[in-house]
Amino acid sequence: MFSFELSFPTRILFGIGAVERVGSVVKQHGKRVLLVTGGHSAKKTGLLARISEQLKEAGVAYELFAGVEPNPRTSTVDRAARLAREAGCDCLLAVGGGSVMDAAKAIAAVALSGRPSYDYMRGNPSGSARQLLPIQEALPLITVPTVAATGSEANNISVLTHWETHEKSSISGPGLYPKAAILDPSLTYTVPPHITAEASADIFSHLFEAYLISSVHTPVQDDFTEALIRQVVRWTSVAMEEPSHAEARSNLLWTSTLAISPFTLSGRNAGYPLHKIEHTLSGFYDIAHGRGLAILTVPYFRQVILEDRPDRLARMGRQCFGVTADNDRAAAEATIEAVAAWFAQLGITQRLADFAIPRDALPTLAQEAIRTGGQGTDHIASSRPLYRDDVLALYEACF
Ligand code: NZQ
Ligand code: ZN
Repeated sequence: MFSFELSFPTRILFGIGAVERVGSVVKQHGKRVLLVTGGHSAKKTGLLARISEQLKEAGVAYELFAGVEPNPRTSTVDRAARLAREAGCDCLLAVGGGSVMDAAKAIAAVALSGRPSYDYMRGNPSGSARQLLPIQEALPLITVPTVAATGSEANNISVLTHWETHEKSSISGPGLYPKAAILDPSLTYTVPPHITAEASADIFSHLFEAYLISSVHTPVQDDFTEALIRQVVRWTSVAMEEPSHAEARSNLLWTSTLAISPFTLSGRNAGYPLHKIEHTLSGFYDIAHGRGLAILTVPYFRQVILEDRPDRLARMGRQCFGVTADNDRAAAEATIEAVAAWFAQLGITQRLADFAIPRDALPTLAQEAIRTGGQGTDHIASSRPLYRDDVLALYEACF
């Protein structure tokens, strides 16, 4: 295991009914809050009315910024940050999915610094794809996730899209950790089956990415990761069939928070290569992040991991998908089939062509994935360096 230092400073309040504590928690951090939500769901489900009532009861004034889009854009962040400054907000409350929480983190930083959000992204302003400005300070943020997916509620990452250049990448820094995350599984009961499935493909990829390519022994992290993968596999279809299933929604929500926490990642010196390859797809074509990952996962296993780390695929299959083959190669192949069958059961097996992505766009997409995801190098680090042609071959296999 590599040496590491970790911090998990976000206070977690977990449980059905936890949302009733929003007012008192926000009050501990500010007097005037910018309440950030997405397009429709928070209003439609009545959650927005419940939260505004609680803020009033707690004596916290608020400004509403509604309409954060999936794959949130820097222009939206900058608009909301202007509102926060003009209204004198000293705190943020994000109520929504990963897109809302990511936008709120960036708004919290931009409202304080006054700099455009694109300044914090890798590709800007020189286009060097190298500079990443860690965010040290931001206004305090409280998160209330309404989808079990990204883990954004308790990490210091915000993924933004600069639509003008179609660059989608993360910004991060110690200042972006939410002060508190209120995890109420009942808020996810209204998530429709197709979004539940996409979200679980995302949780699964947060778990398998570093696990499959780690080059050192990390037995604690491995066992922990496998336990979480088993939870995602077990509960996703239950939540899709019975959306108000408290146990399914609770386990998915807590798993999603832990999946991208430092407890699974630390000590491995491995990152999220498939995420970098996906972000280019959603950055250009605005498809759901989890859907993009689901499309890429099986071809990535076949083209990259099966060749480089069949032992790890075999282990994941045996521990999480009921694979029984003794021989690692056979077990690895059986694992890929098991994952493909699980995705088919969840209804997330589309191809890139289904999203009106033209085939002749793939070389440009591969180039852009390296430019944004390569962080100044000519490759994305996985079980081996993935160069432009490797990424192109992967996109071709998904077409
Ligand atoms: O906008 P509204 O109307 O709220 O609808 C949303 C949206 O259409 C809907 N939704 C959310 N909660 C709901 C609900 N519908 C019914 N009932 C509810 N309770 O779900 C749709 C998708 O929402 P979104 O926030 O976009 O989904 P998700 O949570 O999957 O977030 C995806 C974003 O997070 C980024 C992704 O790249 C993408 O931009 N990620 C952030 C990460 C992080 N911060 O650490 C890591 C991830 O790997 C990921 O990259
Ligand atoms: Zn993800």
